[in-house]
Amino acid sequence: MTRPKLYVAGNWKMNGLQADLKEIESVKAGVQPSGPDVAIFPPATLLHQAASLVKGSPVEIGAQDCHAQPKGAFTGDLSAPILKDAGASAVIVGHSERRSGHGETSRDVHAKASAGLKAGLKVIVCIGETKGERVAGLAPEVCARQVAASLPEDSTPDTVIVAYEPVWAIGTGLSPTIPDITAIHEVVRREIHKRFPASEGKHWRVLYGGSVTAANAASIFESAEVDGVLVGGASLNAASFLAIIAAAKAASGSRTA
Ligand code: PGA
Repeated sequence: MTRPKLYVAGNWKMNGLQADLKEIESVKAGVQPSGPDVAIFPPATLLHQAASLVKGSPVEIGAQDCHAQPKGAFTGDLSAPILKDAGASAVIVGHSERRSGHGETSRDVHAKASAGLKAGLKVIVCIGETKGERVAGLAPEVCARQVAASLPEDSTPDTVIVAYEPVWAIGTGLSPTIPDITAIHEVVRREIHKRFPASEGKHWRVLYGGSVTAANAASIFESAEVDGVLVGGASLNAASFLAIIAAAKAASGSRTA
């Protein structure tokens, strides 16, 4: 088994009106099948149209969260089967804005990830330490614990992607050094291998996220431990997102299996 293709994901968060679908059209027009895998996670209201727009292209469309139950009396929530039905082929779970803003624990994230897998969605599980935990030297331990507790038993390298997103780097313009990113990705892979000994850590995709821009993407891809990026702010504009996709494509050439 060779190293997986790089994966460039854009998390639109609570941004995106009908008029912004043109950004997705531009991304679709600018990507090449020979490039990295590309995914856009718009708000749920745009999922159906976005999925129709990218049909037949290498771009996949995903949702930003899902409920752990497949259906029921949960006003305002969206289940994995509902998201799949709307056109999503992937879902992000455990984003720090959900963990901190909505009190989600790794146990909740595990349940949501299971629901995503059960519905046939690819699942991106986010983990990452806070500033306080980094300063206290606890980042490796916190990230290992989150990986151990958040990934469902039926995770496979084809269906689950881990995104390392230090909380303090999200939306702040701050990012860890490349050696710091590499070190945590190694911890993540070791933990995954411990949980799933039948597969090697390097067969799983581990993304970096947190203030990734067109300006710093190339240097982040210099770490052979980085299998892709999860991009927030810089994914809202097609030109900057395409520049990050181009940086991934340039980096893939120099990667070995
Ligand atoms: P950012 O967000 O790129 O705006 O820092 C990343 C994320 O939260 O996924």
